[in-house]
Amino acid sequence: MSAAPGGATARGAGNGYPAIRVRHLWHRFGAHEVLRDVSFDVARGEIFGFIGPNGAGKTTTIRVMATLLEPMAGRVEIEGLDVTMEPESVRKLIGYMPDHAGVYERITVREYLEFFADAYRIPSLGVVDAVLELCDIRELQAELVATMSKGQKQRLGLARILLHDPRVLILDEPASDLDPRARIEIRDLLLDLQSLGKTILLSSHILSELADVCTSVGIIERGSMVVAGPLGEIAERLAARRAAEAQGQGTLPAAGVVPWPAPPGQAAAPAGPVPAPAPAPLVPVPAPCQRECLKLRVLGDPGAAAFALTGGGAGISGILDVQIVGTAVHVGYAGGDAKVAEIVRVLALRSIAIVGVEPERNELERIFLEATTRPAGAAR
Ligand SMILES: Nc1ncnc2c1ncn2[C@@H]1O[C@H](COP(=O)(O)OP(=O)(O)O)[C@@H](O)[C@H]1O
Ligand SMILES: [Mg+2]
Repeated sequence: MSAAPGGATARGAGNGYPAIRVRHLWHRFGAHEVLRDVSFDVARGEIFGFIGPNGAGKTTTIRVMATLLEPMAGRVEIEGLDVTMEPESVRKLIGYMPDHAGVYERITVREYLEFFADAYRIPSLGVVDAVLELCDIRELQAELVATMSKGQKQRLGLARILLHDPRVLILDEPASDLDPRARIEIRDLLLDLQSLGKTILLSSHILSELADVCTSVGIIERGSMVVAGPLGEIAERLAARRAAEAQGQGTLPAAGVVPWPAPPGQAAAPAGPVPAPAPAPLVPVPAPCQRECLKLRVLGDPGAAAFALTGGGAGISGILDVQIVGTAVHVGYAGGDAKVAEIVRVLALRSIAIVGVEPERNELERIFLEATTRPAGAAR
């Protein structure tokens, strides 16, 4: 791969700035308010899943990040550089892949990449080989682009945006329309890119596309951020909220983005729309409690297992929350393997037949269900 982009400034190369910082972003098309006070950070090295239904405002937010759309209010910084003030420098830092990105079909894969390397004034020798290798399309280099599968074209699109060795990748729905194998290949490629130190933001309206790749998420609905942050942190916040609710501490604020202070010297108030009040602070997470999760499968009624762990007088300390999800019981706990052993022992003593105990590796689905609203009329 080539060296770092030449134009990176001290800030662009800089320490202490998140890879992406979005603050109080507002946008409307005509009378349609599309973004309402959107704020979130993506820390360096994260794979950030930007999740929301169609029409939620993902592409609009991404187009602002990619310097293609000027927001009506608010700001976006890439590694400390303001996308509106310094678009040229930002473009050197980012690799942007739009949704439905087209490719030139009637040239070979290598010609395609050499063409773009020339257009970006990157000496193509070596760089094209490096991205062909990285994106696992080297064997296809002499083939016509038109003969590639959708998944291969998507990898070619990624190879193209990697030519200038950007540090931040912004990918709009990169896995939509791909078959399962192609999706897995893209996922593996994203993990490789993360291990090379890239920060990756990718959007999707399909939760399961992101479940096994993201380290942090932002969920957007109807132009507003519902929740954002590292997966583990969000899970802890939601667990703390559940625990507080269970203790009858009244109605607590919905899990949401941490309120952002306006950047120094910059008023947060936008010129056009009036911003909604900052979200209320979240429930603090009790200090050194390392929350883990497991899925229990039992013979018979999962409710009996849940009752045994919560209301059944089991008296197990360290159980943070218990939920029945389908036929399984999801248990949030603290205390490591010893606690798992205790849970199993208690259930066995109550003659509950356990047929499976597995760690809950990814909580994205649960976070999503808890953090978002249900469509009106939907059954739980
Ligand atoms: N150029 C545009 N002109 C008018 N409306 C637009 C334009 N682009 C997007 N919208 C509208 O803004 C809303 C958000 O769109 P978008 O950001 O593309 O959502 P997402 O990517 O989450 O599906 C949608 O209702 C869409 O119809
Ligand atoms: Mg979109």
